[in-house]
Amino acid sequence: MDLHLKGKTAVITGASQGFGRAIAKGLASEGVKIFATARNEELLKSLHEETGAVTFAQDFTAPGAPQAIANAALAALGRVDILVNNAGRSRALGVTGDEEEWEAGFTLDFTRHRQLTQHLLPHMMERSQGVILNVTSTYELRSINVSAVAKGAVAVWSKQLAGQLGQYNIRVNCLQPGLIDTANTQRIFTAEERRQFAQNNIPLGDFGQPEDIANMAAFLASPRAGYITGAVAVVDGGLRYHPF
Ligand SMILES: NC(=O)c1ccc[n+]([C@@H]2O[C@H](COP(=O)([O-])OP(=O)(O)OC[C@H]3O[C@@H](n4cnc5c(N)ncnc54)[C@H](OP(=O)(O)O)[C@@H]3O)[C@@H](O)[C@H]2O)c1
Repeated sequence: MDLHLKGKTAVITGASQGFGRAIAKGLASEGVKIFATARNEELLKSLHEETGAVTFAQDFTAPGAPQAIANAALAALGRVDILVNNAGRSRALGVTGDEEEWEAGFTLDFTRHRQLTQHLLPHMMERSQGVILNVTSTYELRSINVSAVAKGAVAVWSKQLAGQLGQYNIRVNCLQPGLIDTANTQRIFTAEERRQFAQNNIPLGDFGQPEDIANMAAFLASPRAGYITGAVAVVDGGLRYHPF
């Protein structure tokens, strides 16, 4: 199926590894010009070599990072058709968990994405064209994880944006992963824990791969999804209930 993405441009945060990198590679293979940002310069360099992506090393949590990324992306691409808000990190905490961790988690997983989006939106609105894709998380955790709470905020914000931006032909959707095999989950599960967890809890029997996320991302970013906005697309192998 032709996704009609050839010639489009995309900004992707957290693009050095995991979903962001897979989404960058997937979109690049559809002919999208990529602007990829993250901190790890080595990984960004190899992404550039693999895909031709323009790369921009930046700590997203730094004050001023969203403006710097928006400026560099517009300078490099000329226009931004697709924005993938993806950077984030799982951050489990106790129920009375540390204030600094709450602040840091909300800054990385929600606030900086809201700010980057706000910097790019005027350009999308002026052109009456745009796609925003927010990578979120499950709502079904049974213990505190700042990232998942911040992603809940992203999902609500995303639906509100979708309501107001349809008139500008800008679509806003969330992509909600279950458990996918990346550095993020490898920090939490050993290979044996993953196997056992998946056997007991995931109907399709294993964690997903970053490409499973990238496939959905490419579809939602494409004109093939032209009547989809304000949605939360779940890619989780059937996992709905997290027992932890
Ligand atoms: N994997 C899962 O099962 C899962 C489930 C639910 C939600 N998610 C969400 O999906 C998104 C991607 O997760 P992933 O599994 O692909 O994670 P990952 O493999 O750990 O990749 C995270 C990406 O975010 C970037 N990042 C982290 N902190 C950053 C910072 N301060 N400044 C700039 N970039 C930063 C990292 O780049 P650098 O280290 O190079 O900066 C990396 O490219 C995250 O938002 C995560 O919360 C993942």
